[in-house]
Amino acid sequence: MTDPLTSRQIENEYDGLSNEETIEFLKREVLRLRDASSNYFSTALSCNTATFSKGFSQIPAHGSAPTQCKERLVQIQELDNRPRLNTSSYVNVVFEEEEKDVAIQGLSVNIADSSVYPASIDLHDNVVDCIAGLWNCPKEEQAKDSKNFAGAGTVGSTEACLLALLAHKFRWRKWYAARHGLSETEVIGVIPNIVIPTHYQACWEKAFRYFDVQPKFMYAEFDKFRINPEDMKDLVDEKTIMVVGILGNHYNGTYDPIWEMDKILTDINKENGFQVGLHVDAASGGFIAPFQDNIPAWDFRLKNVLTISASGHKFGESSCGTGWIVFRHRENLSEHIEVEVTYLGGISYSMTLNFSRPATGVYVQAYKFLRLGMHGYRRKVANQLETTMLFRDKMRALKWTNGEPLFEICDSDQEPGLPVFAARVNPDLSLPFDDFDLQHAISEFHWYVSAYRLSFEDFGNGGKVEPLCKDKPSSASMFRVVFKSNLTVTLAENLYDTISDVIEHIKEKEGEAKTKEDESDTAAIAMTIRKAMDLRSKQLRKKKNEHFIQSTCCVLRKVYIAPHRF
Ligand SMILES: Cc1ncc(COP(=O)(O)O)c(C=O)c1O
Repeated sequence: MTDPLTSRQIENEYDGLSNEETIEFLKREVLRLRDASSNYFSTALSCNTATFSKGFSQIPAHGSAPTQCKERLVQIQELDNRPRLNTSSYVNVVFEEEEKDVAIQGLSVNIADSSVYPASIDLHDNVVDCIAGLWNCPKEEQAKDSKNFAGAGTVGSTEACLLALLAHKFRWRKWYAARHGLSETEVIGVIPNIVIPTHYQACWEKAFRYFDVQPKFMYAEFDKFRINPEDMKDLVDEKTIMVVGILGNHYNGTYDPIWEMDKILTDINKENGFQVGLHVDAASGGFIAPFQDNIPAWDFRLKNVLTISASGHKFGESSCGTGWIVFRHRENLSEHIEVEVTYLGGISYSMTLNFSRPATGVYVQAYKFLRLGMHGYRRKVANQLETTMLFRDKMRALKWTNGEPLFEICDSDQEPGLPVFAARVNPDLSLPFDDFDLQHAISEFHWYVSAYRLSFEDFGNGGKVEPLCKDKPSSASMFRVVFKSNLTVTLAENLYDTISDVIEHIKEKEGEAKTKEDESDTAAIAMTIRKAMDLRSKQLRKKKNEHFIQSTCCVLRKVYIAPHRF
């Protein structure tokens, strides 16, 4: 006998439907239920119903069982590339089981709400304090009534850099308005600039474009991406908000000489009566440099360093979606971007671009600090640098058929830098394959090693593509391998073996080509093939949801193994 509540629900549910419509409805419902839990021909693992349609997807009319939903998402993720074999990204992808539990713990906490989550906010502040300490932020410069350093957890370095820019911008505005006797409204009309090396990461493009800031560029030499800090003398002017130094650029992992930039900025400020500060974009180096020996002071020990940002999710070893910004002090800096909120009960302060956010990153970062400790981080960094060196030495020893080195190494090498190997196919050899061809060939073995051109979009000049370095054309290229902590010696050896196997194969092909009568024709064929691969890969990169490795494999099978490559 159906209970009265259920009968009422049934009546409501089918209210207004004709018998035919009710039968149709029930048929669909029976199908859906079978599919969700008791289908006799299909398990959750083999269920063949579609997930989302291709393009212009809609929320499905009916929900599905949890196992079904999860399995469908597992299948989608299965089509991604292998994250551990992606040597291009800096983002941490491996987690201990306990760490995953901690991440889920943070998932339901809204870190913007200090009224409901005071303990989690305290945890956030403790983590900021730990990082401020790591970067030698002076305690004596903190506000008298403050228990913590000024700083915030962000979604990543991008948000952290944007917050730094805003704090510097409002500080500059106040100064500029006073200097020129402008009102608050008048000074808003003045477009300021920042001085930054061309090897900036894309987050700064957002800064220029979203916040109406003119970039002024310092161009590096290709060798170690070395900028000349003296260039700042021609670039910094009274509309300069700040100078940015990058502690480790993502192309080759070398450090900008923040220590020299600081000295020169002191002179510039003194000579001109300016107050320009330095921002250190330590997205990757923020959790490497503190654990390296023989590196000059790069952090808050330098007087002009007012802000430092880093990605917790890179070498900080937290989970994706973790970044940190630390301000030297609150007064006339972070206070400019603080917003006070009282409607959640009590007072909450927010200085991030988003208000609500999960505490996942904060929790995982805290876990990692507890788990590794200073000693653990130091050992980890030493291990990464050592693995990078082993790999670099092997790559350096690879020779072409004429005995010349196959690669030109272009990372920090013997100097302090990130655990990054960067190189390019030796241009002196004039080989008919380049870094991109190599990337594609290696990807057949599931390794992703990205190649890129030495170019950047000049947003001071309408986004025109310009050479990244002063002494190399924008058509030049290179590639990098980031030695994240999951890239162990075993994996690194496999990557090296893969590269050297590919090279051996190419050498064989070259040998075959040389035995052919008309070598110039063969070279022409090789060039055509290379261009075809390059073009194909560009098309692939453009395609949304591309299955990069699989598609590239198809190209390679057709092209790379083709008999007339050389
Ligand atoms: C120097 C630098 N700054 C900023 C960023 C942006 O970091 P995120 O991806 O954490 O926003 C990166 C990322 O690689 C970087 O290398």
